[in-house]
Amino acid sequence: MTRSSHAASWLRPRASSWRCDPAPSGATEFHQSLPGYRPTALVESPALASELGIGRLFVKDESSRLGLPAFKALGASWAIHQAISARVLGPGATGPGSLEGLRELASRAGELRLVTATDGNHGRAVARFARLLGLPSEVYLPEVIARTHPASVEAIRAEGARVVIVAEDYDATVATAARAAAGSPEAELVQDTGWPGYETIPATIVAGYSTLFREIDDQLRAAGVTTADAVVVPVGVGSLAQAAVTHYRGGEAPEGTVLVSVEPDVAACALASLRNGTLTTIPTAATTMAGLNCGTPSSLAWPHLRDGLDCAVAVSDDQADTASRDLRAQGVDSGPCGAASLAGLRAVLDGFGNDLGLGAESHVVLLSTEGR
Ligand SMILES: Cc1ncc(COP(=O)(O)O)c(C=O)c1O
Repeated sequence: MTRSSHAASWLRPRASSWRCDPAPSGATEFHQSLPGYRPTALVESPALASELGIGRLFVKDESSRLGLPAFKALGASWAIHQAISARVLGPGATGPGSLEGLRELASRAGELRLVTATDGNHGRAVARFARLLGLPSEVYLPEVIARTHPASVEAIRAEGARVVIVAEDYDATVATAARAAAGSPEAELVQDTGWPGYETIPATIVAGYSTLFREIDDQLRAAGVTTADAVVVPVGVGSLAQAAVTHYRGGEAPEGTVLVSVEPDVAACALASLRNGTLTTIPTAATTMAGLNCGTPSSLAWPHLRDGLDCAVAVSDDQADTASRDLRAQGVDSGPCGAASLAGLRAVLDGFGNDLGLGAESHVVLLSTEGR
């Protein structure tokens, strides 16, 4: 293992030979059945590729996903599908193949309330699907998010959710939501991070994200690219990065894709964990990259991050803001979390592109995980 000397990075090339189980099936077929489903765009930017000195650059634009401005609906919808199916039909049940079927199943679930904690996007997605299914929802938000991103609170309320503001950080807000749900049998906690004893639902969230990577495979193939040489993933608790590792290291996946995580410099819990070699909680501070403002990696994601990532970097709000402007100039509506991937790629190529084998021939994919 090589540790980078740069303070805000970690490097361990050749992770791509590590193997894990592939993603379970079912999520993509369910997503494809949802009203309004269509693959989000994979936008190529020759101008940015040329600026960065790489072969081709593709940006997966998640600014409009199932009617919401971030990728999170993929995880929330599939996790809710699986939770309701397990409640009504029993563990391991396949469940219905449509939203209509799921609504009918939810009506047989008796008293059921969906509960979650969020930095914004996940809670909005849970609240949206609860509304579509005719279920009540309860969404816990850290006070810092409510203060700095009031529009997020309003968007969640507009879905009909009861919003609870918690005067603590994201980690403590998750714990508060978990305690609230534990007290009532009708409450189903739909959380996008795992901890010891709570990993079944987060695993279904990660499985839901697999749709995004399947779409990228098809879209790259259509663009004449067989394998991405690198994929750059914005990281909060690391569930999306776990899905990336599962996709690119799972089963028979071809070797050779470098996986890079990017976090805010004030909330780089995956980077701290990788540098320490153990799952680590860090204090966090306010950042424009609200969706990435998490202090502890998911326990479920951690082994995948530890063994399956090649590189981790942290970026500042200023770097993300510049990247956001640059992506918008290329026609991609990219909010701060989404643009973190471009800021991270710049840091990687400046620092250790050679170590990772990235250069003039490389084909790189950035996940732009939210719009503005
Ligand atoms: C827009 C956006 N990008 C990326 C992430 C990171 O996902 P994860 O927390 O699974 O690492 C989030 C998480 O909420 C998000 O909202």
